[in-house]
Amino acid sequence: METDVITLDTKVIALGNQKGGVGKTTNCVQLATALGERGRKCLIWDLDTNFGATRHFGIAAGAYWGTFELLTGQDEMDNVIVTENDEDVELPPNVHLITADRNLEGLDKALGAEHKFFPAGILIDPLKQLRGRYDYIFLDTAPSAATPTLAAYMAADFVILSTTPQTFAIKGLEDAIADIKAAIRQGNKKLLVLGVILSDVDKRLRLARLHMDLVEELFRQQPGQPSAKFETIISRSTVVGEAQKLGKTIFQAYPDHKVTDQYRALAREVEARLEAFARANSVTLTQEPQSAPREEHIKLEERTDG
Ligand SMILES: Nc1ncnc2c1ncn2[C@@H]1O[C@H](COP(=O)(O)OP(=O)(O)OP(=O)(O)O)[C@@H](O)[C@H]1O
Ligand SMILES: [Mg+2]
Repeated sequence: METDVITLDTKVIALGNQKGGVGKTTNCVQLATALGERGRKCLIWDLDTNFGATRHFGIAAGAYWGTFELLTGQDEMDNVIVTENDEDVELPPNVHLITADRNLEGLDKALGAEHKFFPAGILIDPLKQLRGRYDYIFLDTAPSAATPTLAAYMAADFVILSTTPQTFAIKGLEDAIADIKAAIRQGNKKLLVLGVILSDVDKRLRLARLHMDLVEELFRQQPGQPSAKFETIISRSTVVGEAQKLGKTIFQAYPDHKVTDQYRALAREVEARLEAFARANSVTLTQEPQSAPREEHIKLEERTDG
């Protein structure tokens, strides 16, 4: 890959929610692929010790050096980026990947002296190397407040939150929001919540519909204003798991499926929202993410411990 061409206005987007199994990785992979289909250059950076994004592309553990080797200085950026030119992997058009592996669990121990005092800053410099080379860099985080997750919040421009229509998943947003607030307080002043993806939804279920309304309201700043929840809802479908088993995105395995089209619509919505942000050049959703929602909804406590 060329390293000397710096032209693109890169948006770094972290996928968040500390609860596991709420669709972060699926959304990350399918949204990047949808944007790739629109001709945007995308990089997915897997920051999870469970390497869900890496597995999603059918890549076996340890097949490539990736996040751990890069962040511990054992390898360089251009060597760890997996591209369409790599053999044994079939990435979708315009999508590149930095893989993860279990060894990421040992990251804190292995970090060099320069990161001992501020491990959460570990992605800031590597991302500087990447800015200009992609339209979008998606940071897929782990369901924990591990160093790479916090580092993603410290380095990103935007967060996209993911949730499913279940109480545990919606409650998990609370921890993610506390982390976002902490990241803003601790120096990442530019960080904005771009939106909330509600996925794995079976609209036939009454409870799912109630949860959809709850998320819609929870992320509405003022009555009458649009909610930060994306309008596009991603349906529950077996094609998601089936494609994963094949090590493919749904764009590769089921290009004409309804859910694939929903991710296409989501990609358009994401870009429209980014354009609106750029036009307004100011915060329309939230610089201080979601303050107190109504009492009968899930309470997002202000934390003082960061
Ligand atoms: N729209 C959908 N329809 C059906 N299944 C889905 C859908 N979206 C996600 N899933 C399934 O839900 C499970 C969890 O999704 P995913 O791995 O994306 O969540 P996650 O938040 O990244 O989890 P973790 O935090 O553990 O990494 C996966 O098995 C995935 O296949
Ligand atoms: Mg995941």
